[in-house]
Amino acid sequence: MDKFIIHGGAKLNGKVKVEGAKNSSLALMPATLLTCGTSVLKNTPKLKDVFTMIGLLETLGVKTAFADHTLTIKIEKLKSQDAPYEYVKKMRASVYVLGPLLAKYGKAKVSMPGGCAWGPRPINLHLEGLKKLGAEIDLEEGYIIAKSKRLIGTEINFEKKSVGATGNLLMAATLARGTTIINNSAMEPEITNLVQFLNKMGAKISGKNTQQLVIEGVDELKPARIDTISDRIEAGTLLVAGAITNGKIELSECNTTHIKSIIQKLEECGCKILVNNDIITLDASDSEIIASDVSTSEYPGFPTDMQAQWIALMSVAKGNSKVTDNIYIDRFNHVPELLRLGASIKMDKNTASISGVKKLKGAKVMSTDLRASASLVLAGLVAKGTTEVLRVYHLDRGYQFIDEKLKNLGANIKRVKGDEY
Ligand code: EPU
Repeated sequence: MDKFIIHGGAKLNGKVKVEGAKNSSLALMPATLLTCGTSVLKNTPKLKDVFTMIGLLETLGVKTAFADHTLTIKIEKLKSQDAPYEYVKKMRASVYVLGPLLAKYGKAKVSMPGGCAWGPRPINLHLEGLKKLGAEIDLEEGYIIAKSKRLIGTEINFEKKSVGATGNLLMAATLARGTTIINNSAMEPEITNLVQFLNKMGAKISGKNTQQLVIEGVDELKPARIDTISDRIEAGTLLVAGAITNGKIELSECNTTHIKSIIQKLEECGCKILVNNDIITLDASDSEIIASDVSTSEYPGFPTDMQAQWIALMSVAKGNSKVTDNIYIDRFNHVPELLRLGASIKMDKNTASISGVKKLKGAKVMSTDLRASASLVLAGLVAKGTTEVLRVYHLDRGYQFIDEKLKNLGANIKRVKGDEY
């Protein structure tokens, strides 16, 4: 397992490009299962999770080619509708194949995702929604067995907003007979990107930016081309890297509308931000970072996927702050590791109370999940001395060559391959 060795203290400076969004790709790729033929997904990031989804699709009989950042997915005849445990245990987003397989082939067998590093992450909303669309769902030996004749349009009222359940049901409903209405649907940009792709395939989905999606079922969908939106969490993480090091950085190919809540918070902290179309410049070179509270919520609120990175920033900000995660109340694995670097953080349920310290001090820390790892890398960038971030494979799941990008911005960061230590 690779690790990063970071010598903290370098101010980041320079330009960096934002990649395509992981969480869009992970929905767009399985959506192609609704079609036969060749679809093209542009701006696909080169990430471990994307390769896991490629592996899963290939297990089903799909052919893929991935050159530059263009992913071509060719579907002639599937050889299976089974998503095995070995994929789902690696990546929960594998469950996205359930809706399309069921809608297109009338059956799917998908391993039930187990626990997650930061607590329970149920998929009850996916399953209840599919049942409402007429599917028969059983659980056998850890597998969800879903069957149906053609799904039938219905009204679904989510008790809670869910990105994954919205995506899965959206895909399933495109081929259902009649109209499906999803109330209280997620409206994350990644869902909008999926709606755009499905409509290009010939689906009839309206209301894409509202909390109600209306899907008029069609008999058939055709392959399509789509541009994957840029990754708002990678953008946010890089901006925090600029802020935490009192640096000056420019991000290109960034959808700045998608990160308004992050920009607003960084400005509250004293960072100077300039937005020019898809370019964003952050200048924290002569600002002191002032503590600012954050409470995560669904889009367009402050994303849970930036909570860990924000805690890293607040650990060295001037003053006290509170960071509350309302989406995942247990997602705080980074906190004990940040304490090892000298941060002052107290947890009370889903709220971290942080007293900014003048200096963090380098230490060995352990990555436990993707965003927790990002938070540790950010802290390492400012910690005095050397920080070793172990098990960075978590980072490789969701950030394309993050070490290279940070190095190009002036960070003193080195990847040590697992077999070299
Ligand atoms: N929930 C339920 N039942 C369900 C589904 C969700 O109770 O059936 C709850 C969850 O426990 C959570 C809330 O609803 O409290 C929202 O979960 P959601 O379903 O929206 O999350 P997800 O679809 O599993 C996606 C992203 C996550 C991101 C969340 C929230 C993908 C592949 N994953 O997960 O991304 O944190 O939405 O925005 O799109 C990450 O990139 O690091 C990551 C974890």
